Amino acid sequence: MDREVPLLELEKVTFTYPGQEKPLFVDLSLRLYQGQWLSITGPSGSGKTSLLRLMYGAVFPAKGTVKILGRALDRKSRYPLRRQMGLVFQSFELLPQKTVLENVVYGAEILGWPPKVAREKALQRLEDVGLLDLKDRRPGTLSGGEQQRVGLARALIHEPRLILADEPTGNLDPANARRVWEILWELKERWKAGVVVVTHSKDLVAWSKGLHLELGKL
Ligand SMILES: Nc1ncnc2c1ncn2[C@@H]1O[C@H](COP(=O)(O)OP(=O)(O)OP(=O)(O)O)[C@@H](O)[C@H]1O
Ligand SMILES: [Mg+2]
Repeated sequence: MDREVPLLELEKVTFTYPGQEKPLFVDLSLRLYQGQWLSITGPSGSGKTSLLRLMYGAVFPAKGTVKILGRALDRKSRYPLRRQMGLVFQSFELLPQKTVLENVVYGAEILGWPPKVAREKALQRLEDVGLLDLKDRRPGTLSGGEQQRVGLARALIHEPRLILADEPTGNLDPANARRVWEILWELKERWKAGVVVVTHSKDLVAWSKGLHLELGKL
């Protein structure tokens, strides 16, 4: 019996940056279903960030297709499709004048949600990342690990079905890094989300027990 439509599908993707001779990826295919976790590792310059950028439509393949929930990702469809995604990066650039809660609410304002709903969701998400007690503080008074978790709450306020994270623990010590992975894993389980995470940490890959793609050096 067929499984459900993949959350994310790459079909024979070939991609070359403008001005580069060699393609970064040739005929790369993969599928990610709901509830699945994919860790991506590889040396610097092997294409980890570029692969994520293909997945959220920041760049497009020369050949092949990227599909989100069965729908081709192109210049036009990427905006509605990104509403199904949560994009997490190494640093979050929190707004220093806003409180922790206001920073998370800001994630929902971008989506155009009514203030009451935005606040409710923001409080839920702060609880998920273990920071409800710090909701009235300013980001500048938090530790690096706490700031990263505020960023996580903001990026995931809308319970995305697909979470794409580029070295979300890159600036953190091992204990804080592990905490961020645990939160992502727990949200994946709860929401049945698909997660793609880039990391340099072999320990985190081993801990998460998901799928693993190791990119090579060109
Ligand atoms: N905008 C661009 N134009 C041309 N080449 C690029 C561009 N962005 C990245 N590259 C090249 O593509 C290759 C892959 O880069 P990418 O940023 O995907 O690597 P990475 O695996 O994420 O590395 P790191 O671990 O350092 O973050 C590198 O050789 C890089 O120089
Ligand atoms: Mg990178």
